[in-house]
Amino acid sequence: MSITSATGELDAWRALPAAQQPEWDDPEEVRAVTAELAQAPPLVFAGECDQLKDRLADVVRGEAFVLQGGDCAETFTGSTADAVRNKLKTLLQMAVVLTYAGSVPVVKIGRMAGQFAKPRSKPVEVRGGVTLPAYRGDAVNGFDFTPESRRNDPRRLLQAYHCSAVTLNLCRAFTKGGYADLRQAHAWNQDFVASSPAGRRYEQLAWEIDRALAFMKACGADPEEFHGVEFYSSHEALLLEYERALTRIDSRSGLPYDVSAHMVWIGERTRALDGAHVEFASRIRNPIGVKLGPTVSADEALALIDRLNPDGEPGRLTFITRMGAGRIRDALPSLIEKVSQNAAPVAWICDPMHGNTFEAPSGHKTRRFDDVVDEVAGFFEVHRALGTHPGGIHIEFTGDDVTECVGGGHEIVEDDLHQRYETACDPRLNRGQSLDLAFMVAEMYRKAR
Ligand code: PEP
Ligand code: CO
Repeated sequence: MSITSATGELDAWRALPAAQQPEWDDPEEVRAVTAELAQAPPLVFAGECDQLKDRLADVVRGEAFVLQGGDCAETFTGSTADAVRNKLKTLLQMAVVLTYAGSVPVVKIGRMAGQFAKPRSKPVEVRGGVTLPAYRGDAVNGFDFTPESRRNDPRRLLQAYHCSAVTLNLCRAFTKGGYADLRQAHAWNQDFVASSPAGRRYEQLAWEIDRALAFMKACGADPEEFHGVEFYSSHEALLLEYERALTRIDSRSGLPYDVSAHMVWIGERTRALDGAHVEFASRIRNPIGVKLGPTVSADEALALIDRLNPDGEPGRLTFITRMGAGRIRDALPSLIEKVSQNAAPVAWICDPMHGNTFEAPSGHKTRRFDDVVDEVAGFFEVHRALGTHPGGIHIEFTGDDVTECVGGGHEIVEDDLHQRYETACDPRLNRGQSLDLAFMVAEMYRKAR
């Protein structure tokens, strides 16, 4: 394929309806910003995207498990060393629990370093009789409820790029620079062990790992894998101007990759088969995820496979189901059955968050930890019954001790929600709830084998 024809195809989405795109006041400003982004260095390399695709192919084959997670919406002010380290630490602890207690290699994918744009169910927000545009993520407008802050500002796309770069740089340093060494498994937990039952349970497991490491060392084995981890970035490819501007032709293969993240996904609200998002994603060579909610039909899922993975490349396409605890056991079986009969294999991941959101009497958007666990349990039950592989979980979490989801080992009740409710969008599991979940999922995984 010549570069010119590749470029033409990369812009084919422009002729199609694109849901959830912000309206910008000044097209000239958008052009200037995207021209700048198009010259900016890549955040990830094509070869790394291919490596993640290989790891996801292992997941398709039933030989690895995905742990994907992070904030619902990252914020510019949240791109600090402390916040990133806390998220990463929690992800590493969860991964250790899953690897050790679930005995499975874990593919670690942050919902980080680019998750700055949100689809919204309503274009406006009304508070006390005042109507303003809805918050669409820091890449588009501000969270504060004022006309100035809620104005869509294309220059924010540049800031999203720079915050992604800073965050990814920290993630790379933390995961390769010694911090993620398995011998640090206790250190990640130091500030947590005294205050939390999940932290104490984790500590026990970390001691077991210490003993196993000492044993292996005594045997003369000290593999490279123990000293760092592979970490991948991902976000929803929502803002097509941004994603297009960060798409580059890989010099090795001549193929286009979206270098804003290793993996990008298409959301539940933007997965229309004839829409711009599916068209754009069909042209880039990154691993792609698609969220599937309870209204999806098996035919739609098959058509998505046709559009996004016509060559049946393992690891290219991941379905992230988000059915809700009450519906997963009914909605998932026929979907998986038809897809596995008729199409190339996909990886199946469970997002137990987005089908389980409700409003507490206090007005806080929240989720019950028990519903989250129940949806994952349903996901495992269905896969077990069908003989297919439960390939992973996709969660919204933070490394801080927020009070956004109710329940968990360190029970948070609805009246506690106001104490530390900090999310810019959906409620996240806090560190203790995330670790609790990891222990439960590890057990489910072991039983499902
Ligand atoms: C999300 O992941 O934050 C999200 C909006 O999910 P979905 O597209 O599944 O609703
Ligand atoms: Co969300």
